[in-house]
Parts: sequence; C-alpha cells; structure tokens
Amino acid sequence: MMKLAGVAGIFLVGFFGAVAYADPAEDTLILNEDIKMVTKTAAPAHLSDVMDEVYSGWLFRGTETRAMQADDFDNPGMLFVEQAEGVWNTVEGSEDKSCASCHGASEEMAGVKAVYPKWNETAGEVRTIEMQVNDCRENQMGAEKWGYTSGNMVNMTALLASVSRGMPVNVAIDGPAQSVWEDGKELYYTRTGQLEMSCANCHEDNYGSMIRADHLSQGQINAFPVYRLKNTKLNAVHSRFKGCVRDTRAETYSAGSPEFIALELYVSSRGNGLSVEGPSVRN
Ligand code: HEC
Ligand code: HEC
Repeated sequence: MMKLAGVAGIFLVGFFGAVAYADPAEDTLILNEDIKMVTKTAAPAHLSDVMDEVYSGWLFRGTETRAMQADDFDNPGMLFVEQAEGVWNTVEGSEDKSCASCHGASEEMAGVKAVYPKWNETAGEVRTIEMQVNDCRENQMGAEKWGYTSGNMVNMTALLASVSRGMPVNVAIDGPAQSVWEDGKELYYTRTGQLEMSCANCHEDNYGSMIRADHLSQGQINAFPVYRLKNTKLNAVHSRFKGCVRDTRAETYSAGSPEFIALELYVSSRGNGLSVEGPSVRN
C-alpha cells in the first residue's frame, strides 16, 4: 500500500527522491526467550483521532538489528548497563553514599522508568529521569551533577530502563503535568526549519515510508536509550530529538531544555502501553 499523507508526503518525495512504503515487521520481540514485549498496541485515547495503533521503532528495523535486541548477550547496549551497575554501587560525594546506599539493588527501580517524565510535587516541576538522577547526586550524595547526555548519565538511564523492560509505558498527562504536556504537543505539531516540517509530518503522517535506506517509524521513545550501530554508543532521547530537528534544518533546543522536557513527556505519552525496551538497538 502507498501511504504518503498530505503535503508533507509530496514534500518527502520531492526532497528525498522516490519514497516507497513498507509495513512494520510482523514479528514478536521476546527478550532472552523469556519476556514477551508489547511492540504494537492500541493507541492511547488522546491519539484516537489520528491513529489506531502504536508501534515500537523495533518493528521498523531489519531482521538482524531486531535479533540483536532480543538477546542481552548480543545487545551491545547491555555493556553500558553493566558499567552503570558498577557506578550504582560506587560511593561518591560529600555524604559518602552510593545510589545503592539508599535505593538498594538496582532492580528495586523496576517500574520507575515506565512513568517518567513525571511531576515532582516537592519541586513543582515535571522531571525527566536524568533530572531526578542529578537531583539525587547533588542533594542526596553531595556529588557533582552529570552532563545531561554524558556517558555516565546515559548509561545510568540504560540501567534504569533495563530493570523495567517489559513493563508498559504509563506516563501521566493530566493534573499538574498537563500544561507541560500541552507545550510538548504544540512543539510536536509545529513546522520548523527550512523544510517546514513537524515531527508529525514524518512520524505520524508518513511512518512506514522509506526515506533513502531508512524505514521511518513513529518516532516512539519507549526503547530509549538506544544503542546505534551508526555511532556505536548509547544515545539519549534528547540527542535523538536534536538530530531530527537538525534534519529539518532548524535551530535546535538543547538537551535538558524546558522545550525538550515537554516534548519528551508528550512523545512518551504517545507510546503509553508499549513496553519499556531500553537499551534497544537501532541503525
Ligand atoms: C541519600 C539517599 C539517596 C541517594 C544516595 C540516592 N538517592 Fe535517589 N532518591 C532518594 C530519595 C529520597 C528519592 C525520592 C525523591 C522524591 O520523590 O522527591 C529518590 C528518588 C530517585 C529516583 C526516582 C524514583 C521514583 O520512584 O520516582 C531515581 C530514579 C533515583 N532516585 C535514582 C538515584 C540514582 C541513580 C542515585 C545514584 C547516582 C541515587 N538515586 C542516589 C534518595 C537517594
Ligand atoms: C524529515 C522527517 C523527520 C522529521 C521531521 C522528524 N524525524 Fe524523527 N526520525 C526520522 C528518521 C528518518 C528516523 C530514523 C528511522 C526511525 O527510527 O524512524 C527518525 C527517528 C526518530 C526517533 C527514534 C525512534 C526509535 O525507535 O529509535 C525518534 C524518537 C524521533 N525520530 C523523534 C522525532 C521528533 C520528536 C521529531 C520532531 C522534533 C522528529 N523525530 C522529526 C525522520 C524525521
């Protein structure tokens, strides 16, 4: 089936040359021959006007890439999870504490990643998991904050994701988080850059299209952080956002900016119901 929606579809053809369409893979992700992951499910209610089903980016990758993610021994992202496990247990900072001193084993964090970004009542703000980790480092450990997309940080988010794998993404978008969610939604639908394209033009209107050799997904973030074969490291959500914004030839926001925090909450909510998959493998 050819599915090139709207002006952006015509634009994609004009810009990228011939654009073909391919369905997402008919495949089931079973992690370590044990945990059955939800990579395809009914779209959350807030998306019911625009799509029926949501798909993990895993279904848009090739057979070999998909296989790498299905087994922890083949998933290069798991090496960084191991590194983070070491850091989890390392005492640092003026309070002589490690993450484990307060939180116990990293497995105790099962379920946490699934609900982030999340409203923090005390701070009166929506927090990404990176913000929460840095808050613990600064205010609980008396240690230096990590750079938002630094190696230590992305590794730690991979550890936190890994212990929640298989659990459904379930970020809250009502209550005090709602206005931030609305901001994120506006960013998602705003056309930017010389190409005048929004996230939705590619990831909502034209997922399934082949852009050059790349099979365009819904741009979900249930699987972050992602190990990319292209740069052979773990990539944070905000780094991916930056890459996509740059591709529209627009000025991009910085990692950890209020704009990207809002966008992250919104994009996460588009994947409510999909399994937490991080660290995943992508091209
Ligand atoms: C001195 C104790 C202490 C240390 C050390 C500590 N934390 Fe925390 N952490 C807390 C407390 C207390 C909370 C709850 C804070 C809140 O809800 O505002 C928390 C919350 C969290 C959460 C969010 C949990 C949730 O359910 O929302 C994460 C993730 C987290 N910490 C990660 C870490 C990591 C990673 C480290 C090490 C780099 C660390 N913490 C070190 C005390 C600590
Ligand atoms: C010109 C088309 C285009 C636009 C506009 C665009 N992207 Fe992308 N995006 C891509 C392509 C191509 C990929 C790589 C293939 C894939 O995973 O979909 C990608 C990948 C992604 C991924 C990785 C998904 C995964 O499972 O690994 C995310 C997340 C993402 N985009 C989010 C966004 C957001 C948020 C915006 C708006 C700020 C945006 N994109 C705008 C083309 C676009």
